[in-house]
Amino acid sequence: MSPASPLILGIETSCDDTACAVLDGDGRVLASVVSSQLAAHRPYGGVVPEIASREHLSNWPLVSAEALARAGVRMEDVELVAATRGPGLVGALLVGLSVGKAVAFALNRPFHGVHHLEGHLYSPFLPPPSTSEPSAPRPDSFVGLVVSGGHTSIFQVENGRVSTLAETRDDAIGEVFDKVGKRLGLPYPQGPKVDELAERGDPAARRFTVPFPGDDLFFSYSGLKSQALLEIEKLERRLGPIDLVSQEPVQEVLDLVAGFRAAAVGQVIDRLDRLHRRRPIPVLAVSGGVAANRLLRRELPAWAAERGIDLRLVPLAWSGDNAAMIAHAALLRHRRGEAGDPFSAEAESRIPI
Ligand code: KG4
Ligand code: ZN
Repeated sequence: MSPASPLILGIETSCDDTACAVLDGDGRVLASVVSSQLAAHRPYGGVVPEIASREHLSNWPLVSAEALARAGVRMEDVELVAATRGPGLVGALLVGLSVGKAVAFALNRPFHGVHHLEGHLYSPFLPPPSTSEPSAPRPDSFVGLVVSGGHTSIFQVENGRVSTLAETRDDAIGEVFDKVGKRLGLPYPQGPKVDELAERGDPAARRFTVPFPGDDLFFSYSGLKSQALLEIEKLERRLGPIDLVSQEPVQEVLDLVAGFRAAAVGQVIDRLDRLHRRRPIPVLAVSGGVAANRLLRRELPAWAAERGIDLRLVPLAWSGDNAAMIAHAALLRHRRGEAGDPFSAEAESRIPI
């Protein structure tokens, strides 16, 4: 079966993953390759922007060749090109954006500079990998929750127009998972490991509070972060230094992490619940790296089912940063009749959606 037109090349280089994907016009993911730079950044304890840019440059030829080979297509077959234009690290974004524009220019094809959040927002409608299904029909109107290392936001999406309903006043949820994990000695990204450890703890043994937003609808995670760091300090005074790279965690550490996770996820559900009571949510699309969280994936379906909400949880493969979601966002723009962006579209570290 030949792929449906237009064949789309997606590129994502906003942080420390070099990603390339090929989608067909029905939204089938023909290939998605994500090359992690973790090893290059590990010695520095975080992402070094300069190294990220250099790594993107050196990884791109292999990553793109691999994506095209897996999809069974040639670069000349590509009919539409999409790259993330922001937000993110400017030097890193510039690599993917420049490559995308160059490919589009050389092939004389339209180019879309996609907002990273636009990619996440629509990712729950992508089919899981290793299926030959097209992407799910996307409702014209839905509520999108994006929980990641950079965002904790709820959006209303209407025919491609996006407005913000709630966002964090301070830290993003993923960032706080990472910081608590870092304090316990874990290497970046700490979120998945903290989640794994929390599975073995009892959240009732150490409760953390979920802040009250009053009449407003906003997230706040800095208080929870401070509470968790303080509790770790108290534990260390009794038990000695905690470093989970070299130690097996004791039950008290597992309980602390479980209590932290319960409050972090609890706040997400609390805000969704407030919103739903104010104005019912018919369709809820949940995306972003933290959408991989085990507790969130267990609790949300039950919460949504009780309220008759049509929940679309992003397939695990597309929760973290990837290029399939960028190509998919461009496909949706194409379906809305948008022609593409000028080659003058610039990389930007911060841009409103
Ligand atoms: O969407 P993403 O890949 O990158 C951003 O756009 O930020 O999200 C990465 C974030 C990191 O903070 C990572 O620790 C967090 O998602 N994360 C998790 C889990 N998996 C990834 N946080 C909690 N539980 C997880 N299972
Ligand atoms: Zn992201």
